[in-house]
Amino acid sequence: MLVRMTGRVKRGGVTSGVGRIRAAFAGVLQGARAMVGTRRRPRLNLGCGDHPLPGFINLDKRGGWTFESGLKDFATESVAAITISHALMYVEAKDIPFVFSEFHRVLVPGGIIRITGDDTQNPQSLAFGGWTGDEPFVTLTSPSIVGGWLERAGFDVHQVDENTTFFSDASICQSFHRGPPHVFFIEGVRRV
Ligand SMILES: C[S@@+](CC[C@H](N)C(=O)[O-])C[C@H]1O[C@@H](n2cnc3c(N)ncnc32)[C@H](O)[C@@H]1O
Repeated sequence: MLVRMTGRVKRGGVTSGVGRIRAAFAGVLQGARAMVGTRRRPRLNLGCGDHPLPGFINLDKRGGWTFESGLKDFATESVAAITISHALMYVEAKDIPFVFSEFHRVLVPGGIIRITGDDTQNPQSLAFGGWTGDEPFVTLTSPSIVGGWLERAGFDVHQVDENTTFFSDASICQSFHRGPPHVFFIEGVRRV
């Protein structure tokens, strides 16, 4: 599992051996504090449907919250992580920039957004071309489409697999609906 490293020791500017040890110790302490802080901050599971996650604030249209209404109950830089599984295909393209700007606003620097969705651009995927039956998709999703949304909102983008995450633990990983080539997993890291 990839783990996000916080408080990495910077070597530049440290001249003596003692200075280096002090700087390393300070870095470890800073990292530990950041991890503790992150654990106390809320994690959001948006469009949770029938899959609420323990320890998360689980929000869904069924409970009266919508992506389009934003995250006004959450202060800027107050949320440790956001996870979304198979829900963004119900958000119209015109609303995506605002929705993603809200994700970016509420996440702490270094915070992670993880998006799991159907790969509608992969010919090997059962969701290729989207879904037009009951509850049809209103927007197509794929690694490149969602990666573009994340990038334009200001995130560093990483395609990951089912069990790989840049978050400090695997609690944000969701895989209820198949895996590749049908489903993709992608994360955005809010720049520090
Ligand atoms: C296919 S279900 C996925 C549920 C769950 N996340 C999962 O992976 O099994 C899609 C969910 O998105 C919710 N949803 C659809 N449009 C929404 C919107 N505009 N805002 C918030 N939730 C929405 C639905 O109510 C539904 O619970």
